[in-house]
Amino acid sequence: MAGNVIVLDGDGVGPEVMGAAYRVLEGLGTGLDMERPLCGEAAVGRGKPAFPQEVRQMCLAADAVLFGATGSTSRDILSFLRWEMDNYINLRPIRYYEGTLSPLKDPDGIDFVILRENSEGLYPAREGDLSLLIEGLPDYRDARLGKSFADFGDGKFAVLLATIRGTERFARFAVDFTLKRKGNGHPGRLTCVTKSNVLRETGGLFQRIMEEEARRHPQIEFEHFYVDNMARRLVRNPQDVDVLATSNLFGDILADEAAELVGGLGLAPSACIGGRLPYFESVHGSAPDIAGKGIVNPTAAILSAGLMLAHLGLIQQAAAVSRAIEQVYREGAHLTRDQGGMATTSEFTDAVLRVLGE
Ligand code: NAI
Ligand code: MG
Repeated sequence: MAGNVIVLDGDGVGPEVMGAAYRVLEGLGTGLDMERPLCGEAAVGRGKPAFPQEVRQMCLAADAVLFGATGSTSRDILSFLRWEMDNYINLRPIRYYEGTLSPLKDPDGIDFVILRENSEGLYPAREGDLSLLIEGLPDYRDARLGKSFADFGDGKFAVLLATIRGTERFARFAVDFTLKRKGNGHPGRLTCVTKSNVLRETGGLFQRIMEEEARRHPQIEFEHFYVDNMARRLVRNPQDVDVLATSNLFGDILADEAAELVGGLGLAPSACIGGRLPYFESVHGSAPDIAGKGIVNPTAAILSAGLMLAHLGLIQQAAAVSRAIEQVYREGAHLTRDQGGMATTSEFTDAVLRVLGE
């Protein structure tokens, strides 16, 4: 047996895209032991919690989790997978498949990876009333205007976290990943993205640690851009990007932008790794506007399953998944609506399975 995998549907389109990914995994004959317990909106609909204790136990005993989507119901699942399991790397490959609806004139050759630091930045979401800061730091004066927190008046604050330990482990992964990816047309170029011109302490620390780690490995090329410039460069020169490494919020935003370059959210998979239990999910959310209609594009979920196979060492099966997706898009006969086609989720999946069976 190659491993034990738990498939969690989650909310909205989650059950539809997990249904598709599950069929593809079964069709591949991976030897994986797969279970798909009730959770998320479907569980709540039957009077159960979104993340029952027994499902949590199953996950803790598994080698990997494949996850559908979170809306507002499955937050406990996401919190478990991302925070409790300490998956500090969110890896988001962006690759153009011929036949997808890219808005670019020349999307050929787009093939890069966004590495998003997944445990710090603004996402621990430690927020509060400014009054807390006024009480806690009465002597604080900002460097430029000498203002105290009280001078700002009533409002809220959020904490942006950049720790040395958290940034160092991320930097080590990013450099190692760039090194391993090098070759086969990948130049070994690591692009660090921050806003260190404004956020000199937090952004500055991130940039410095990334750069120090990269300089230890002269085989890779290191560059740095501010996030606003990078947002523009992604549209203008996406073929120049190889590995883009950035902090939590910027990674979240740039990944949606990047997904659009290659056809949209329906095509963007991700791996969340580095912690105690790897999990794999689409970049998109629960897409409530199209949930339950049978029209969601399952490519992102299927490619996420492919990332999971690669992570579990099933390299040939993982390659077969991307080749099948590539062929279905190239042929263009069974595309979903977001790609300008008329196929339903299951018709698209049928097409993928047909190619896999050839
Ligand atoms: P979303 O990613 O769910 O949808 C954005 C737009 O893209 C919608 O119009 C949707 O129909 C379309 N879309 C997304 N995936 C698609 C697919 N596979 N095929 C075709 N069209 C697709 O983002 P939205 O609407 O902002 O958020 C909905 C819910 O999802 C919210 O509760 C949000 O918090 C959650 N969310 C969770 C994420 C996660 O857990 N990783 C990521 C993004 C949103
Ligand atoms: Mg997002």
